[in-house]
This record gives sequence, C-alpha cells and structure tokens, in this order.
Amino acid sequence: MLGKLKMWKDKSKEFTKEDIMRGQIPNHIAIIMDGNGRWAKKRALPRSAGHHEGMKVVRKVTKLANDLGVKTLTVYAFSTENWKRPKLEVEYLMKLPEEFLGTFLPELIEENVQVRTMGDKSALPKHTLNAVENAMNETRNNDGLILNFALNYGSRAEILGAVKQLANDYKNGTVDLDCLNEDGFSTYLMTRNLADPDLLIRTSGEIRLSNFMLWQLAYTEFWFTDVLWPDFKDQHLLEAIKVYQQRGRRYGGV
Ligand code: IPE
Ligand code: IPE
Ligand code: MG
Repeated sequence: MLGKLKMWKDKSKEFTKEDIMRGQIPNHIAIIMDGNGRWAKKRALPRSAGHHEGMKVVRKVTKLANDLGVKTLTVYAFSTENWKRPKLEVEYLMKLPEEFLGTFLPELIEENVQVRTMGDKSALPKHTLNAVENAMNETRNNDGLILNFALNYGSRAEILGAVKQLANDYKNGTVDLDCLNEDGFSTYLMTRNLADPDLLIRTSGEIRLSNFMLWQLAYTEFWFTDVLWPDFKDQHLLEAIKVYQQRGRRYGGV
C-alpha cells in the first residue's frame, strides 16, 4: 500500500511542453551531466554502466530541447581533469562518442541538429576524433539545434589559450589592445560563434562549476538538482526551464 502511495504522482504538478512554450525559452542551455558513477554504484554496476545510461539521456534531452526551440545545448561530456580517472574508465568514456553517434547520428540528421564540439582535440584518441568530426561534417548543413559537446574541455585552459593567442596577435600587430573589448576577447574563446548560456543545469547534487565555461556563465541562471544524470527525465528539463522563466534577470541593472 505504502509502495503504491509513494509511486502515485500528482500529474497536475507536472509541466507540459505546451505550458513551457508559452514562456520564454532559453536560447542556450548548458548542462553539467553528473552522477553517472553514483547511479551505477547504487545498482552495484560498474561505473561504465552509468555512463552508458547517461548517454541515452543525452539523446532524449536533445530531442526535447530541439522541440522546445532551444537554439544551443552544450553538454559537458569530459573535462580536462577527467584524465585523472582510472585508465579503463577514460577509455570507456572515449568510446562513448562513437557509440552515441553510431546509434543516433541518423536521428540527429533527421532532426536537423548540428553537432559541434569544444575542447582540446589534440589529446583525443583518433577513433574519438574521427567519430565527432564525421558527425560535425554530416550535420554541417543543418540549421536546427546546435548540440555542442564539451569534450576534453576545461575553462581555465580555454582562457589561457585565448590569452596566448591574443599575445601572439599583439606581437604580430594584428590586434589593437586599446580597441579590444569583452566581445573582442570572446572571439578567442572556444564558444566564439555561440551566445552565452542562459541556463546552466547541474545534476547529482554537486554545487560547483568544475571548470566549466567560467567566462560564459557570468550572467547565466543556475539550476541544480539532486537527480543523478541517468535518472534525468523530460520533466526535469521542463521544471528547470519553468524556474528559469520565473527568474528576473537584471545584469546589474534594476
Ligand atoms: C559524470 O558522471 C560523467 C563524467 C564526468 C564523464 P561521473 O562519472 O562524474 O559520476 P559521479 O560523479 O562519480 O557519480
Ligand atoms: C564535471 O564532473 C565534468 C563532467 C560532467 C564531464 P566531475 O564529476 O568530473 O566533477 P567533480 O570532480 O565532481 O568536480
Ligand atoms: Mg562526477
């Protein structure tokens, strides 16, 4: 009886796509997909099982975001710090893009999604790089949702890289420091063709950025949830957007 009661859900508290689409849809949503390992541990499964399950959630979230009219979805798939993990886990994570794209690329093409990546590609294994480059190529003429994978991405490395490139341009005389403003500096970042995120979601109860988009998140609205990434459902994305719609963004004004 108690089990049944616990399972009972108040549907009137659930959001529908239509409810959410009546309000402002964030242009760019960024997600720190966290908690795969803990999801697996709870089930006495290897961490890789959590990553595999998490991969399927990316597909669902992409579809819903696209349906809602979100323009860009950036997902943190592998950080520059994640190389510290056991070799086997890193190897598994580096195989996931191939598996994800191998399975879902036709669907992404069908749904007019453009695949992009940001991060240091030079350290990626060849098979990982091939998979993402092929997907970017195959979807380059699409003009729907941009699905941006942060892969071997770290914001400090990104900013440092930008500063080095800028210093180089200064040396070559191709940049005038007196004219350089924030928009100009942004063009040196890996997000040069993307708007800043409007909404950041992090799952698994961790309340930190873990080196994610430090520059770009300056005025982003944050939404944290205890839900582990493999358990993340459409309803959670709708809830996050609902909360976003109720926030007053002031950018320092009144
Ligand atoms: C997020 O899940 C996926 C990556 C960081 C690649 P984790 O693997 O960090 O899962 P937890 O945080 O250990 O539960
Ligand atoms: C952030 O999660 C990186 C990704 C989701 C890819 P982590 O699990 O690596 O972050 P920390 O170690 O808890 O800060
Ligand atoms: Mg984690």
